[in-house]
Amino acid sequence: MLEDYPKKMVTKGGLSVVLRPVVREDEEALRTMLSQIPEEERWFLRENLTDPERLHQWIENLNYEHVLPMVAVKEEDGEIIANLRLYRSSSGCTAHVAHVRIMVVPAYRSQKVGSLILTDAAKLATELGVEKLIAEFVSGVENMAMKAADRLDFHHEAVLKDYVLDPQGGCRDLIIMVKNLSREWHDF
Ligand SMILES: CC(C)(COP(=O)(O)OP(=O)(O)OC[C@H]1O[C@@H](n2cnc3c(N)ncnc32)[C@H](O)[C@@H]1OP(=O)(O)O)[C@@H](O)C(=O)NCCC(=O)NCCS
Repeated sequence: MLEDYPKKMVTKGGLSVVLRPVVREDEEALRTMLSQIPEEERWFLRENLTDPERLHQWIENLNYEHVLPMVAVKEEDGEIIANLRLYRSSSGCTAHVAHVRIMVVPAYRSQKVGSLILTDAAKLATELGVEKLIAEFVSGVENMAMKAADRLDFHHEAVLKDYVLDPQGGCRDLIIMVKNLSREWHDF
């Protein structure tokens, strides 16, 4: 489980990265990472940590039991190139599900970094007793992310019509995708 980190990995594109949970000392590197998120994507962030003060509060109050934040760090220079947050439930009735959010720095997209950190998080979540991973996507905005999720065995589960407002005041659907985690994941 968490004692397995940091984990060194190489993406299919040949990039050496380290996967590990976020620690307080990551604040500056995370600020740099989050500053690279394009304006058009910021609007749709569910937890907007691009505000430095909000990021500071968030990192000061890390609680892995509630939200487990992971980062992919470029081994060469320590740059954070992706983050992923696993939102766990404190309630017994939903202890078997976790929500996942992922962000890869634009300059490092399409190099399998997202696949790598999400596949690792799925394995970790299984070890933590999670049976279903849930991801939400804004229709027409996060289509590339949906395609990536589809490649990683997430399936369409539900649509919430007009759930999300876009910056122009229009309404967009929220697509809910689910990945059923196999209890045998840890055998791989
Ligand atoms: C979605 C996201 C996490 C994908 O990360 P990534 O590292 O670029 O993805 P990968 O390189 O691992 O690619 C995985 C799959 O995504 C799809 N994909 C990746 N880049 C793509 C592109 N430019 N165009 C279309 N599909 C693409 C492909 O299906 C790909 O699989 P394949 O190469 O085997 O065909 C990244 O684009 C991102 O951070 N987007 C903004 C934030 C977001 O939308 N988050 C999702 C909400 S939780």
